[in-house]
Amino acid sequence: MSRKKLIAANWKMYKDPAQTKEFFHGFLPMVAKHDRDEIVVCPPYIDLHAAIELVKGSKVAVGAQNVYWKTEGAFTGEISPTMLVAVGCTHVIIGHSERRQYFGETDDTVNLKLKAALEHGLTPIVCVGEVLEEREAGLTEDVLRRQCMRAFSTLSARKAAKLVVAYEPVWAIGTGKTATPEMASDAHVLIRGEAAKAFGDDFGAGLRILYGGSVKPENAKALMSQEEIDGALVGGASLDPKSFAAIVKY
Ligand code: 13P
Repeated sequence: MSRKKLIAANWKMYKDPAQTKEFFHGFLPMVAKHDRDEIVVCPPYIDLHAAIELVKGSKVAVGAQNVYWKTEGAFTGEISPTMLVAVGCTHVIIGHSERRQYFGETDDTVNLKLKAALEHGLTPIVCVGEVLEEREAGLTEDVLRRQCMRAFSTLSARKAAKLVVAYEPVWAIGTGKTATPEMASDAHVLIRGEAAKAFGDDFGAGLRILYGGSVKPENAKALMSQEEIDGALVGGASLDPKSFAAIVKY
């Protein structure tokens, strides 16, 4: 099954609206003719409005880095899926390892956020991945299975249609260490299998699974040429327009 690749930028806590403007002024002309892959940029919340205005008329989409699962209420500091839709977001990252590590995100909150995002028509990019101690202890498969199973819980194939998963081995994030294309492929096969178990074989075959963790212009081609890898979730190397454009065009 042919799956259109998705190349996504996760800016994390970098760039204000003025820097967002500067980025897109550089980036958009570089990818203006690029149709092969889908491109999404996920800036901090405060930059969403500026980013969405700037990408109008281009093929670049804008996503958020997190979302709460309720539509409104007394939840100081949170942003709802309806708010993201209202501002013009189409995508949202859910369960990034930094949110799991520093902000108490669990498999259960990932599940709630995933269901809420889907309910409101957003394309969720659900992050899974093992930490170094888990890999060294031979627990990678168990961890990925648990994260997928709990994230997909009580969802139907119909509701989950837009799901995208990102495999981000935590030991490869921001460290310059990349999983080898073979290691990433093995993890993707396992994740695809979990999706097939939850939602059926056709769903599994069509699911896009991105790789994230020190993706750079220099290693993008080797990773993206793997049959099992359907795109990238890029942190550090997505902050510079030239380097992100080079990854998009791997
Ligand atoms: P780096 O590309 O900086 O390793 O970050 C990966 C990541 O966490 C993307 O979500």
